[in-house]
Amino acid sequence: MGFAEQFEKRIMVTGGAGFIGSNLLLYLVPKYPGYLFISLDCLTYAGNLSNLKPIENSSNYRFEKIDLRDFDGLQRSFNRYSVNSVIHLAAESHVDRSIMGPSDFISTNILGTFNLLEAVRKRAGFQRFHHVSTDEVYGSLEESRQATETAPYNPSSPYAASKASADHLVRAYYKTYGFDAVITNCSNNYGPFQFPEKLIPLTIKNAKDGLPIPVYGDGRQIRDWLYVEDHCRAIDLVFHGGKPGETYNISAGNERINLEVIGSVCGIMDEILGGDPREGLITMVKDRPGHDRRYALDSSRIRSELGWSPAVSLEEGLRKTVKWYLENSSWVEECTTGDYRKYYEKMYRDR
Ligand code: NAD
Ligand code: TYD
Repeated sequence: MGFAEQFEKRIMVTGGAGFIGSNLLLYLVPKYPGYLFISLDCLTYAGNLSNLKPIENSSNYRFEKIDLRDFDGLQRSFNRYSVNSVIHLAAESHVDRSIMGPSDFISTNILGTFNLLEAVRKRAGFQRFHHVSTDEVYGSLEESRQATETAPYNPSSPYAASKASADHLVRAYYKTYGFDAVITNCSNNYGPFQFPEKLIPLTIKNAKDGLPIPVYGDGRQIRDWLYVEDHCRAIDLVFHGGKPGETYNISAGNERINLEVIGSVCGIMDEILGGDPREGLITMVKDRPGHDRRYALDSSRIRSELGWSPAVSLEEGLRKTVKWYLENSSWVEECTTGDYRKYYEKMYRDR
């Protein structure tokens, strides 16, 4: 028996060095010593190996620097570790970047997913393909409507369209080739290790540095916020107990307009750091093209079938997140040097 075969499951976690991937591996690796976790990531600007330091020497963990678009590399990794399960998180994930240049979104999110599915389809004894997707595939929803798992797809941004395509591919492979697959569509996550281009960590960073906090349009767009640890527990439950071929929406029911979320973050920072009220830094800027007004998910399936419910309230989650970013300012500084400055300048200069 080789090294990998001593483990009951050999799970490739793609995007393992990203925001959700890091939180997931830090949660799963110590919890399941009988499983081998192979974190596969090509380390784009959004991937950060230092996130995984606490588990890097664990006997049931390995890291592979491979690009999903490199099919031969993927296959070598599948063979090296006799991979029999996948949790697929790797993606280009930022809507604004997809508007600035969609190409990597198409190649990674669609073709990369295709490569993974191809690598899996002929493997004997393959157990489960868990595809992690987003509420953005359902598009913008009218007030009072929530998307169930059977809601029609109606993506607005190149990012959302690329994720929708990937979801369709996973479903088609499930139906056509018969290997086990599940899909989860979750709402906006927040928490430690999120790259500071997304609303909450960007707000924390700018509020700390005394910089303008950019708010798109009228700031009354609604997102449903999910603390990343609650998301990780949900992935664990669906990976182990979700029905083959099914989709599970994951959301905590924390719908808020953007201005309210920004106001809460500023309030927490004022409390911790003192000084002038940071809400004064809010600056209304030009809206994002194709900006979805509201996302909202009906997550009753995962709650009733698998007993999941969120453990962290939005208020508590925001407090934990602000504290984490303040205590990890060197992490923020390291990922917001050269390229980030160029991105920021390009994205916000003419708004
Ligand atoms: P992220 O941008 O923080 O991390 C993505 C990771 O994927 C990075 O480590 C990056 O290096 C890696 N990656 C990108 N292209 C790759 C490639 N070609 N080959 C190998 N690795 C590559 O993203 P995240 O926020 O952690 O999101 C993870 C997944 O969850 C994504 O599929 C995203 O669509 C989905 N999702 C995220 C949210 C959210 O709020 N963050 C909400 C819903 C769904
Ligand atoms: P974001 O974190 O980019 O996530 P998504 O677009 O996937 O929902 O944005 C969350 C919301 O915050 C979205 O309505 C856009 C808005 N937003 C701003 O108003 N200003 C900003 O600088 C950013 C990054 C986002």
